[in-house]
Amino acid sequence: MVTIIGNGKMALAIAKGLNGEVEVVGRDEKKLQKFCTESSARKYHLLNNFDITDKIIILATKPYALDLLSLKGKAKEVISIMAGKKIEEIKKHIKSEIYSRVMPNVGAIHQASTTAVFGSENAYEIFSKIGVAIKVSSEKELDISTAIAGSGPAFLAIVAEAIADGGVLCGMNREMSYEFTKGLFRSYASLEDKPANIKDSVISPAGTTASGIEKLEENGVRNAFIKAIKGAYEKSQKI
Ligand SMILES: NC(=O)c1ccc[n+]([C@@H]2O[C@H](COP(=O)([O-])OP(=O)(O)OC[C@H]3O[C@@H](n4cnc5c(N)ncnc54)[C@H](OP(=O)(O)O)[C@@H]3O)[C@@H](O)[C@H]2O)c1
Repeated sequence: MVTIIGNGKMALAIAKGLNGEVEVVGRDEKKLQKFCTESSARKYHLLNNFDITDKIIILATKPYALDLLSLKGKAKEVISIMAGKKIEEIKKHIKSEIYSRVMPNVGAIHQASTTAVFGSENAYEIFSKIGVAIKVSSEKELDISTAIAGSGPAFLAIVAEAIADGGVLCGMNREMSYEFTKGLFRSYASLEDKPANIKDSVISPAGTTASGIEKLEENGVRNAFIKAIKGAYEKSQKI
């Protein structure tokens, strides 16, 4: 059984993915009870002085809480989902035989996370149960994945909102514009080709797509996204 420390959104998504084969640890008994009802988690414990000896721990509190956790004993394995917190830092607060870092994304709520895994085979197997797990070979790659796959859903939400707004600007009603935008993302996800190939297969000489791309380039869309990923990565180094 896996022990999840934290009872927030991501903790709940992971508990559901593991079919409730978990125990949960938190600081608020009411929230823990609700968590167990929603996720079928086996049991809950209060956080203060919780004994982690020989347990497989998934660390799912807010990153700043790391400094405040008072846990006793030595875990078998600690798997942290905290953005930005390096293994060196985690070691200062929690004793364990093995340390792994993983970075799921909000798709975990529907068991459709894209999760970067730096560490053990066990961590890879656990996170394969809530979507697709991808092994990375350094904490740097894990932090870059945080910018792409972790923050990415918020960036794509801005793209989706803007595309739908464009539809409304041209005269389509809001609901229908959202429906087409949603469909666009579904269709795109089904195409597993390289982005450049997808673009080239749609664009035709002097056509509508070419005109749209001209506007995107005029407004520096590529540069804006490159800077967004770089900005999110750089921020992860300062947490
Ligand atoms: N959301 C995402 O898309 C995403 C993606 C990848 C990784 N993550 C990482 O996942 C972790 C949890 O994020 P979340 O989205 O699940 O957040 P959340 O829903 O806000 O849950 C935060 C959890 O942290 C606990 N917590 C906060 N301060 C604490 C403290 N001082 N001491 C003990 N526990 C404390 C909260 O406990 P209470 O309920 O008692 O307040 C709650 O259980 C974060 O480290 C984040 O970096 C999130």
